Amino acid sequence: MEREKIILDVDTGSDDAVAIICAALSSKIELHSICTVWGNRPLHQTTDNTLRVVDLLGLGDTVKVYPGCETAMVATLLAKRHAGYGGQRKSVNGGKEVSMHQETIDELPAPHTLPQDKRAVMHYIDTIMNGEDGEFTLVPVGPLTNIAMALRVEPRIAGKIKQIVLMGGGCRRTNSTPAAEFNIWADPEAAQIVFTCGAKITVVPLDATHNACINSDEVEALYKMGTPVSNFVADMIKHRIAAYSYLQPMKRLDSAPVHDALAVCCLIRPDVLEQVELVRCDVDISGGIADGQTIVDPRAYTDLPPNVHFAFFANRDKFSSLLFEILRGEN
Ligand code: BDR
Ligand code: CA
Repeated sequence: MEREKIILDVDTGSDDAVAIICAALSSKIELHSICTVWGNRPLHQTTDNTLRVVDLLGLGDTVKVYPGCETAMVATLLAKRHAGYGGQRKSVNGGKEVSMHQETIDELPAPHTLPQDKRAVMHYIDTIMNGEDGEFTLVPVGPLTNIAMALRVEPRIAGKIKQIVLMGGGCRRTNSTPAAEFNIWADPEAAQIVFTCGAKITVVPLDATHNACINSDEVEALYKMGTPVSNFVADMIKHRIAAYSYLQPMKRLDSAPVHDALAVCCLIRPDVLEQVELVRCDVDISGGIADGQTIVDPRAYTDLPPNVHFAFFANRDKFSSLLFEILRGEN
């Protein structure tokens, strides 16, 4: 079977870190390169965190890291639209700040691999335009700023790529606001540009990721596996479970979604996603109460043609066993 050649786009981030690990270790994926973007944290921190994970995997010589955009295309021009990095998922518990993401991933040493001088937007354009038709799959799991910028500069990349599989959005689940999920809310204009670019797109939203939570028993099993990488994944998910239990409890209290890893895993095993429907989906860019909402048209006869494959559900057990298989080198 031919491996899926992917360019990952991350704002690392604990779940981005697990996504990088899945992409790097799976035999079904060829991780071509990684682009970083602002999002969970400012760009210099998401890039530093990404490089730490690349070093953990020993990939510094083979997988290059390209820093991308430092802020949204336009949304941050209006202060009221943006409450800060990582949305509003930050709070103080007993005098201690609880956040979904650490500033730096201090479980890992400072990186020795350097980022590339070339910026992510140029990397996308050069790599895709010089590649074969259908050679690359793009997997953005942060704000969509880099890919939207690249599409604006060189729209022909939309017709050259194989597909885009992205983590973002939500129909019945949101996190940053009552209407919006973080990656889309952070740069709604970029998301709308990507959603309407004409490429094949699969959206892995919160509706799917919240149904594929990893629990604390599984974290213990990861620690028992005992490799440096499985220990690190266990640390990341343990941190997420602690934060989610306080900030955004899941149905099972001692569990948390690992959003970005699910987007990578559906390339390895498509049936981790369920109820995937081809729908019309647009992003609210009005700057109002629904700013950044992913609006799925439920009507049978939509005004505009369907544009994305939207996953309304996921299979938790399949995702969990796939994660273990990847870490054991079995998938
Ligand atoms: C998304 O927001 C980020 O904080 C996570 O890494 C994920 O990509 C979930 O809303
Ligand atoms: Ca992310």
